[in-house]
Amino acid sequence: MANTNQSWDPDAYARNARFVSDLGAPVVDLLAPQAGERILDLGCGDGALTTRLAAMGCDVVGVDSSALQVEACRRLGLDARVADGARLSFDAEFDAVFSNAAIHWMKPVDDVIAGVWRALRPGGRFVAEFGGHGCVETIKRALLDALRRRGIDGDAFNPWYFPTVEDYSARLARRGFAVRYIALIPRPTPLPTEINGWLETFAQSFMAPLDEKDRAGFIDDVRESLRTKLCGSDGKWFADYVRLRFAADKPRT
Ligand code: BEZ
Repeated sequence: MANTNQSWDPDAYARNARFVSDLGAPVVDLLAPQAGERILDLGCGDGALTTRLAAMGCDVVGVDSSALQVEACRRLGLDARVADGARLSFDAEFDAVFSNAAIHWMKPVDDVIAGVWRALRPGGRFVAEFGGHGCVETIKRALLDALRRRGIDGDAFNPWYFPTVEDYSARLARRGFAVRYIALIPRPTPLPTEINGWLETFAQSFMAPLDEKDRAGFIDDVRESLRTKLCGSDGKWFADYVRLRFAADKPRT
C-alpha cells in the first residue's frame, strides 16, 4: 500500500483491523482459487489472506509497500516482497492477481491497472475488493471538518481513491480487461476497538499537518463529532464501509 504519510504497524493492525481480512471471504470466493495456480496478492498486508490462498494449494507471492508488513508475512513463511502497487515489474507470470482492501491506497490508478495487466498471463484474471464510492464518507467528512476548524484544508491529505462502478469499469476496459462482474456493496462494519483505533490505524495522513502533541486531541474531537452517527446505543462503533468488488479477465489473445 503506497502512501508516504501512512505507516503500518503489524501489531496495531492486528488489534484494530483484523476484521479487514476476516471479511475477505466473498472476494476469495469470487477468485475461486485452484490448487497449483500462481497468484499475486497485491497489497498483502500482514498476509492473513495470502496464507489462506497458500493453504488452498496456490503458489502465492505477496507484495506490499510496507516493509514491516512484508516482514510479518515472511515470518509466516510466505514469499512476500516490498513493492509499490503502481510500479509492479512482473511479466506475464500469474494466473490471477488478487487484492483485498488495498487498491484504494494506490495511485496513480491507471498505473496500478497497467502493472496488473502486465503481471497476468493471457487468460489470467484480476479479482479484487477495495473501498468504493462513498466508502467511509461520514468519517472522511468528520476528518475534513475537524481540520477545517483548525484552519487547514484537508483535501490534499486525503490518501484514498474510492471509485464508482462506472469509473473503475471504464479504466479496466480501457486497459483491455473484460469485466465479468463488478458491484458496489454497502457494508456497515462493526469495529473491534472504538473509532479511535480505526482513526489511529487508517487516518494517519489526515494528521500529517498537525503537531504530534495535537493529534490525540484531534482524534477525540473527530470521535465526538461521529458519536451520534456511528456509535449505537449499546456503545458499539461501526464504520460506513462501501466495497467495490470485481472480477476482470485478460483475454487469451
Ligand atoms: C479498508 O481497509 O478497507 C479501508 C481503509 C481505509 C479507508 C477505507 C477502507
